[in-house]
Amino acid sequence: MQFQPILDEIAFQIQRELAQQGPRGQVARYIPALARVDAAQFGIALRTCDGQEAVAGDGQTPFSIQSISKVFTLTLAMRHMSEQALWARIGREPSGNPFNSLVQLEFEQGTPRNPFINAGAIAVADRIVALYGAGAQRELCGFMSHLAGEPIAYDEEVAASEAATGYRNHALANFMKSFGRIDHGVQEVLDLYFHQCALRMSCLQLARAAGYLCRDGAHPLQADAPVVSERQARRINALMLTCGTYDAAGEFAFRIGLPCKSGVGGGIVAVVPDRLTLAVWSPALDETGNSLLGMKALELFTTRTGLSVF
Ligand code: DON
Repeated sequence: MQFQPILDEIAFQIQRELAQQGPRGQVARYIPALARVDAAQFGIALRTCDGQEAVAGDGQTPFSIQSISKVFTLTLAMRHMSEQALWARIGREPSGNPFNSLVQLEFEQGTPRNPFINAGAIAVADRIVALYGAGAQRELCGFMSHLAGEPIAYDEEVAASEAATGYRNHALANFMKSFGRIDHGVQEVLDLYFHQCALRMSCLQLARAAGYLCRDGAHPLQADAPVVSERQARRINALMLTCGTYDAAGEFAFRIGLPCKSGVGGGIVAVVPDRLTLAVWSPALDETGNSLLGMKALELFTTRTGLSVF
């Protein structure tokens, strides 16, 4: 299949809609540095298992990957921890609640439902701090650069902006700590969490970095360096399908039919196992915190290509 004309067509259609109607939805306002981003942007890029790439619109513009980072921190933890030790701390069920919800945590004694809601990702960040101590941020950034095949960096302004206003995340981390579910200092763990969310990457860099998820765990660019095992890659995809877009996971499965992970920066990464990874970006979000036009673009892509896990 020739993907470049398909992405060009999707970008043309979405950009025409942006020009005619303006962006619907809202950029994430609760993180001040994200509230200033121009909502009238759209990018899309993909990379196939065998290295074919296509990119359209603002597909090479870097943006704040936010919760998409949770896939990569989970991957890093899975690489270095026993499954048993990891899953003793974090569940694997969809929450059916918003990504920053506190309600289930009290009923469930501080154990987060899954690694992709904020509470779960903070618990994963605690594990990364356990693995790397003061070098955790450097290690994560190095891992992202290793996957993307070029240097990736944190946007310090976004990280500082979220640290100053992340009241919910402070509440979640302290609440889990009160149940003995976080081993390290709340500040140290949140510092890593806010930095992982502040990684700046383009759609093309994300499509490359996530490539192991469509290649049975093999490194996206180097055939001889597995990132995770085939079984682990399958499990990460399963979690993305069921939990990657929070309380919209059912709608994503229904309309798009692929494992996806979204972020409030407006990015979404999607996986077609054994075929390709795809990333889209448009900053305006719906009420579940998922990119409105990103979702539309993914739906156009799967409709046009017939690609789906179902
Ligand atoms: O912790 C937060 O609220 C943000 N840094 C990330 C949330 C997010 O991206 C949710 N995804 N749609």
